[in-house]
Amino acid sequence: MDGDGIGPGSRSRELFERAKNIFPGGVNSPVRAFEPHPFFVTGAKGSRLYGADGEAYIDYCMAYGALLLGHAHPAVIDSVMAQLPKGTLYGAPTELEIRFGELIREAFPSMEMLRLANSGTEATMHAIRAARGFTGRKKIIMFEGCYHGAHDAVLVRAGSGAATFGVPASLGVPEEAAQNTIILPYNDIGALEGAIEREGDEIAAAIVEPVMGNAGLIPPKSEFLERLRRVTEAHGIVLIFDETITGFRLAIGGAQERYGLKADLTTLGKIIGGGFPIAAFGGRREIMESLSPVGRVYQAGTFSGNPASVAAGISVLQVLREAGGKAYQDLERGSRRLQVELTDLAADLRLGVQVHGIASMFQVFFTPHPVTDYSSAKLSDTKKFRAYFQGLLKQGIFIPPSQFETCFLSLAHTDDDLHRTAIAFEGALRAAADCR
Ligand SMILES: Cc1ncc(COP(=O)(O)O)c(C=O)c1O
Repeated sequence: MDGDGIGPGSRSRELFERAKNIFPGGVNSPVRAFEPHPFFVTGAKGSRLYGADGEAYIDYCMAYGALLLGHAHPAVIDSVMAQLPKGTLYGAPTELEIRFGELIREAFPSMEMLRLANSGTEATMHAIRAARGFTGRKKIIMFEGCYHGAHDAVLVRAGSGAATFGVPASLGVPEEAAQNTIILPYNDIGALEGAIEREGDEIAAAIVEPVMGNAGLIPPKSEFLERLRRVTEAHGIVLIFDETITGFRLAIGGAQERYGLKADLTTLGKIIGGGFPIAAFGGRREIMESLSPVGRVYQAGTFSGNPASVAAGISVLQVLREAGGKAYQDLERGSRRLQVELTDLAADLRLGVQVHGIASMFQVFFTPHPVTDYSSAKLSDTKKFRAYFQGLLKQGIFIPPSQFETCFLSLAHTDDDLHRTAIAFEGALRAAADCR
């Protein structure tokens, strides 16, 4: 199996029928569902995912950005295999956790203290509570189309699956739970400064994806993050950089390294677990010391600091540290190559698209208009996107199945993978162009 995929076949269709009987929509996370049915995975290695019909895909979803080293990286597998016989969960602290925490802080000096959690959702939930407890204020700012996980305070006009499936305001979130969330357009400095001028003294935190990766890929305009930093600082608002995607992705030190900024609190997830569930949140010592048992903000987790996840995380961070800046340059070069292919092919086909990319992330929006925020992203032609997605899938290339997600390269993608992908782009874009 070498990437000459044929798309999902009859075995995956049968499994989907069975899955629909037991899991809502046949899946355990909504973004995994797509028409007519997803492929079911039997294994993965490097840049490849293997499907139940014996097909192979070059994977640009990479578990929604979690697998910067690629699938089943030997360093991750070896470290977890070495840990497992020693126990899977202790309910008591370990030296491993300290080592992991120190490695994270080396990369993110703004995280003077941190706590481990199990998912990005948990990390942002705890970070927001810490900010509220520390400031004694209730309101938070979030930016439309950003996704900070599936908890009440941030499931308001959110991106990712919430945008894909048209439920930006989820049923089941009481109005009261979201009434303290102020939603602002991303990249709009005027709206931000206006809101802070009006309500700054009541705002505990502003949470942002420094690069939006959940409404397609939308980089910050120049100055946006700097002004956000300045205005939050001036009003005693805790600035939370949700680096669940960007942490260790834009650079070792994430968006904060890339843009030369320091957040008050940072949330990390995805990459830091090498495919195992783990996340972290942390920042200024005085905020983090509001947490129980030192302070009166409660936060806890049976599985927090799970030794298998921590062992995996340590190996990922060590591999990245050794690989250094060159690895990030190579990734960015690979991603640029694909972006140039997409841009040139779309121009040849007279297809109006916006191709965005930063570091090892990229996405193509099927709209002739510039995309700078959620409302401009929503102008994209999702039918064309679907044709493009299906066109790639049939040729053995898997990207996240939504216009409102982002494609990710990993260190396991080879020149040959990129070459095959560039060839597949042509057919897929042609399918999009033919789709009316
Ligand atoms: C920026 C961001 N924050 C938080 C989350 C939630 O993370 P998890 O799915 O691990 O709960 C995600 C997930 O996609 C994310 O992209």
